[in-house]
Amino acid sequence: MLLFRLRISSKNISTDTHKKPSVNPFNYSFLNHATQPPATALQIALPSKQLIIQPAIETCEKIEKIELSKEEEEIYGNRMIKGFHKILLLGKGGCAVVWKASKESKLYAIKQIARKAENALSNIQSLKIEFEMYNKIKKITHCGQKNIAEIYDIIEEKNDFWYVAELGGLSLGRQIFRIKGEFVNSERVYGIKHLKLHSLLTTNSNMIKQLLRNILIGLDLMQEAGIVHGDIKPENILVEYKDTTITDVKIIDLGSAFSFDKPSNIRMSTPEYLSPEALIYFGSSAFQESKNSIELCKHQKPWSYDMWSLGAIVLEIYIGFPLWLSLKGKICNNDYVFFSKGLFAVAGREGKKIVQLQMSMLSNLNAYLKKYHVIMPSSALNLLLRMMEFDPMKRISPKEALAHEFLSIQ
Ligand SMILES: Nc1ncnc2c1ncn2[C@@H]1O[C@H](COP(=O)(O)OP(=O)(O)O)[C@@H](O)[C@H]1O
Ligand SMILES: [Mg+2]
Repeated sequence: MLLFRLRISSKNISTDTHKKPSVNPFNYSFLNHATQPPATALQIALPSKQLIIQPAIETCEKIEKIELSKEEEEIYGNRMIKGFHKILLLGKGGCAVVWKASKESKLYAIKQIARKAENALSNIQSLKIEFEMYNKIKKITHCGQKNIAEIYDIIEEKNDFWYVAELGGLSLGRQIFRIKGEFVNSERVYGIKHLKLHSLLTTNSNMIKQLLRNILIGLDLMQEAGIVHGDIKPENILVEYKDTTITDVKIIDLGSAFSFDKPSNIRMSTPEYLSPEALIYFGSSAFQESKNSIELCKHQKPWSYDMWSLGAIVLEIYIGFPLWLSLKGKICNNDYVFFSKGLFAVAGREGKKIVQLQMSMLSNLNAYLKKYHVIMPSSALNLLLRMMEFDPMKRISPKEALAHEFLSIQ
C-alpha cells in the first residue's frame, strides 16, 4: 500500500526541482550516444548481482487487491452515480479512483473525482481534457478504436465529478509485477514478484508481439487524430489474456493528452517513462513560463513522445525490474536473491538525471542486457532501439513499428 502511494505521487509531480536547465531543450546534439554520463549515475542503475530472467523466474499469480485507506474512504464516501451499482475498486491514480459498476446488467468503469479531494480543480480539468481528447479520437475511422477505452459520458454532481467508460482488463502494471514492502536486516526493501503475464511475455515472443501490435494500433489511431497520449506507462494499458493469447488491450487515461498542433495543456506526467526531450523540456524555463510547447513539438514527430514511452515499457518487461523503483528492490528467484534499483530511478526524480541514465543505458545497452541476462530476439532488440531513438525526429512511428520485422513476422 505504501508503494502504491509512492506511485500515486508520481503523477503531476511538482516541477519546482526542474528549474534552470543547463541544456538547450531544443538542441539534441548533446544527446550524442558517445557522451558518457558521470560514473555516479551509472552506478545507480547497475545491479549488485546478476539477474537471470529466463527461464526459471518465480511467478506468482496473486494480484494485489486495491483498497481505499480510511482517509480516502472519507473523501470518496459511499457514493455512486444514480442508477449504477458499485461493484469494486478497479484502481487509484494520481487524480481519481475508478470503480467497476453495473447498470441494467452491463458493466462499466466509473471514474470519480471528489470535489473535496486535494487538487480537485485540476483533476476535474484533467477529466474534462480526457473527454475532449477522447471525442477527437472517436471521430477517426480506424481499427485501433478497440484499443482505446471508450468514454461514454461525464457527469457533474454536487459532491463529485464522474465519467462513465468502457470496462477493460487489469492494468499491465498490476499483471507483470507484484511489489511489497518488507524488511531485510532491518532495512526497508521492496520485494518484486514476477507475475504470470510477465513470464509469458518474456518467454513467448508471440505474446509480446500481440501486446505490442495492439498498443501500436491504438497509438497509430491517436497519431492520426493528432493527439499525443503523454502518459504511456504500464498502469495506463489494460490487458486481458487467455492461456497464451492476448484477447484485449486498451489504452486508458487521456488526462495528460494534448493536441500535437496546439500543445497548450502539456504537462509533466510519469518521468521514468518520458522521452529525453520531454524531460529536458519539463526541466526548462520555457516550461516554467508555460511557453514554447509549440517549439517542443516542432522538434519531434506526432508519435515521438509516446513511442519512447512504449520502448521504456518494453525495456521494463525484458529487464524484469520496475524502471521507476528508487528504493532498494529485491527479486527472489529459486537460485539467488537479487537487489537493485530501477534503471531510470533517481533521487528526487530529476529529469536531467534521468536523461543521463537513459544515455548511459543506451550507449551500453548490450552490456546492460548481458548483465541482466535478458534473452530477447535480435529483431526485438532492434525495434526497442528504434523506439528509444534519442533523436525524436528519427524515432520509429507506430506504422513503421507494425511493419518492423519483429512484429510483421508471426
Ligand atoms: N476503463 C477501465 N477499465 C478497467 N480499469 C480501469 C479503467 N480505467 C481506469 N482503470 C483502473 O484505474 C486506474 C486509474 O485510472 P486512470 O484513468 O489511469 O486514472 P489516473 O488519471 O488517476 O491515473 C488504472 O491504472 C486502472 O487500473
Ligand atoms: Mg493513470
